[in-house]
Amino acid sequence: MFRPTLSLIDTLRQRRQRLANLINFPAIIWSGQTSPRNFPANVFPLRASSHFLYFAGLPLSNAAIRLDTGKLQLFIDDAKPSSALWHGEMPTREEIAGQIGADAAYPMAELESWLESVATIPSQDAGTWTQQTQLLNRWLLPQQPLAGIDLELANAIVNLRLIHDDAAIAELRKAAAVTVKAHKAGMRVTKSAKIEAEVRAAMEAVIIAHNMTTSYSSIVTVHGEVLHNDKYHHPIQPGDLLLADVGAETEMGWAGDVTRTWAVSGKFSSTQRDIYEVVLAAHDASIAKIRPGVEYRDIHLLACTAIAEGLANLGILRGKAEDLVEMDAHALFFPHGIGHLLGLDVHDMEDLGDLAGYEQGRLRSDRFGLGYLRLNRPLQPGMLVTIEPGFYQVPAILNDPNFRSKYEKTVNWERLSEFADVRGIRIENDVLVTNEASEVLTAALPYSVSDVENLVTNP
Ligand code: GLY
Ligand code: MN
Ligand code: MN
Repeated sequence: MFRPTLSLIDTLRQRRQRLANLINFPAIIWSGQTSPRNFPANVFPLRASSHFLYFAGLPLSNAAIRLDTGKLQLFIDDAKPSSALWHGEMPTREEIAGQIGADAAYPMAELESWLESVATIPSQDAGTWTQQTQLLNRWLLPQQPLAGIDLELANAIVNLRLIHDDAAIAELRKAAAVTVKAHKAGMRVTKSAKIEAEVRAAMEAVIIAHNMTTSYSSIVTVHGEVLHNDKYHHPIQPGDLLLADVGAETEMGWAGDVTRTWAVSGKFSSTQRDIYEVVLAAHDASIAKIRPGVEYRDIHLLACTAIAEGLANLGILRGKAEDLVEMDAHALFFPHGIGHLLGLDVHDMEDLGDLAGYEQGRLRSDRFGLGYLRLNRPLQPGMLVTIEPGFYQVPAILNDPNFRSKYEKTVNWERLSEFADVRGIRIENDVLVTNEASEVLTAALPYSVSDVENLVTNP
């Protein structure tokens, strides 16, 4: 298993101390556990809780940490002797405690004696969540509003995890670099691939070869209009666009999240290029605006306006860009938000609902064009966000009778039908807010029409 370095242990201690400065009660965070596929030694891979990873640094299974005044107590059982046969020798509790800089270590059964007045975060994993709920004797639901000290703890953790420290940024750069390599491999293999799965395999091979995992289920599809498509069986044919949204996750859990869209033949058709340029203009305008103090919602609206303007210039929408955005016409083709927080998770900390994404006192809009805005805060140095404008022809939206009648005159449906070879385009990069403006951590992966065409055409 991966071992934290001494400097990482320092970072972990600083994070614990910074948490202690924000709360005046102890907290227990469970790591999560593996679940068996059919028999106990054949398990689904573990993904330890991101909150646990943030303070403990190691993806331990079936462990908990108690954080109190900057100190960490580790609760974990030594592996049973029989497990060595299937899983090899495991480090002892004391060895693990040394690796993460714990101040004390106990068997799991002793956790019961340390529960007084503790706050917690609901586990994402059902087995652990059941244990947690029973031990604490209170009803916790993942993704439901928290209350009392649990809410205070969540807000404190959000405060810390919103702004990445140097160790986190170093990990995020590693994830970004491998993500870039994976996308280049995908572009290179496309010419010789017959189905989506071959492109996915080439991309994930790079990630696996770096001893990383994917940070979410890869989307590699000629049906980019299905936003989180998880099918890979479609043939890829000249004339198709291939949308690849694939990200690497480091051993410590830090994520990359990148999308590129390229033409299977290597060359975009004129209609594909026209729409790609519209999405690119929204992407570039959004990134140019990123700096501390700017509202992320304004960046979203800027991207919506750029898309509306581009589609109006192509004759697909009728009207002035600002008016089109006002009436949510852009959302017919760009129904999601411009991006989200990125860190130990894609959609970082969305296990806490909108606590991280939305500044206190702000609520999600129920407007069609704003409801999927996942981040609504002023930007601060050290935040990592994605910028991911897109254009999609989603049948469920475009064939909806209510939308058809509401936007009957706003959309030139006949003109739109000329763009039938554009099902989905997204361009997504990971952007760090710096003191001055921003740094695109994934900039090494080209996205201009000619650069993307070159990468696919000359593998
Ligand atoms: N990869 C999921 C997303 O971009 O939101
Ligand atoms: Mn994303
Ligand atoms: Mn993505």
